[in-house]
Amino acid sequence: MTLLSPPRPALIEAFSAPKGFGDQTLRDRRPDAIELLGGIPDPSVLPTAELAEATARVLARPGAPALQYSRTEGIPALREWIALREGVDVHRVLVTNGGFHGLAIAVQTVLERGDLVAVDNPVFPLFLRGLELADARVLPVRVGAEGLDVDALAAQLRAGARPAAVYTVPEFHNPSQSSLPTARRRELVDLAERYGFVVFADDPYRELRFHGEPESLAPFHDSDHVIHVNTFTKTLGPGLRLGWVVLPERLIPDAVALRSRQDSHSSTLVQAVVAELLTSDETLFDRVLGRARTLYRSRAHTLAAALSASGSFEVTVPEGGLFLWPRLTDDTVDADRLAADASAEGVEYQRGSFFPSGPGTDADRHLRLAYGDTEESSLREAAARLGRAVARQG
Ligand SMILES: Cc1ncc(COP(=O)(O)O)c(C=O)c1O
Repeated sequence: MTLLSPPRPALIEAFSAPKGFGDQTLRDRRPDAIELLGGIPDPSVLPTAELAEATARVLARPGAPALQYSRTEGIPALREWIALREGVDVHRVLVTNGGFHGLAIAVQTVLERGDLVAVDNPVFPLFLRGLELADARVLPVRVGAEGLDVDALAAQLRAGARPAAVYTVPEFHNPSQSSLPTARRRELVDLAERYGFVVFADDPYRELRFHGEPESLAPFHDSDHVIHVNTFTKTLGPGLRLGWVVLPERLIPDAVALRSRQDSHSSTLVQAVVAELLTSDETLFDRVLGRARTLYRSRAHTLAAALSASGSFEVTVPEGGLFLWPRLTDDTVDADRLAADASAEGVEYQRGSFFPSGPGTDADRHLRLAYGDTEESSLREAAARLGRAVARQG
């Protein structure tokens, strides 16, 4: 079996540095620079005014209970809202400080030191950082046009691989856009039950679907071998640091015991404000999503069309999420030089090679372009600059 090389810490630092908080950003050096780096929600579609009103109402409650300690699992009003949305019993919901924290809880609840973990190939790099907590070994499994290649995983299992967990982003994969169809989810869960591993289904982009119905969560929720990890980061704002995990019954006691030994619980105030926001107006969340989906769909289509027109990229128009994963059409283009030339042209993105990948993918021939927080005129300009950067190698 082929193991993945460890993540490169400097690159992970670069990936996780939020815009505006870094030392010197490209925009400082070049004011007209266009950054397509992170999957960041656009401030215009976050419910800022509604959050301010909800905060005022919560703090006006007699005795200000939102300023007190609360239960490790989360406050009831928020857990009930999440449980309804997920379609699970409320006691399976554990509120977290965002998706990354949910992954850390999954890792620490399930893994023993040195365990093998099968992961998306290419993979969201911060998950690998979370795995360092468990000193885990990593087995890459290719992600294709239909998400994690469950047949490839099955072949690895037949060949003797015994992962304790499988990590995948099942909907609008980061970085490669694809989604795992419902039938494939069932096959993945069947493998989990047969071979005894736990699936960490990391789902922050699920709600950002541009067309049609989301893939079913039932295969995940019907199994006692899946932890479903989600977050309000992409819908209400990453600064809230609020998310949740849906746990299988048998893992609840360990996860809650772990959490009570960490920080005891997520901020009561943030939970209370979000619960107030979501329950005081039952249609608000769907209205927020509606605005976000319309904006991101339009931006995704604009960027995809502009890049296709340049002839330098093969593009699959995204069906949701915040990323475009175009592939260079010309295999002689040097992808590292392209990133440097693009930076000189004033456009910054994540190179495909930034995402740790094992054999069997061509991630290094791709670019990951985040379009969520960039206006359409700038996206067209970014595509033109990328076209010029490719042409420099002609
Ligand atoms: C695949 C994936 N998982 C988890 C996260 C982390 O989410 P959060 O900001 O809620 O910790 C992200 C954020 O970009 C992500 O892309």
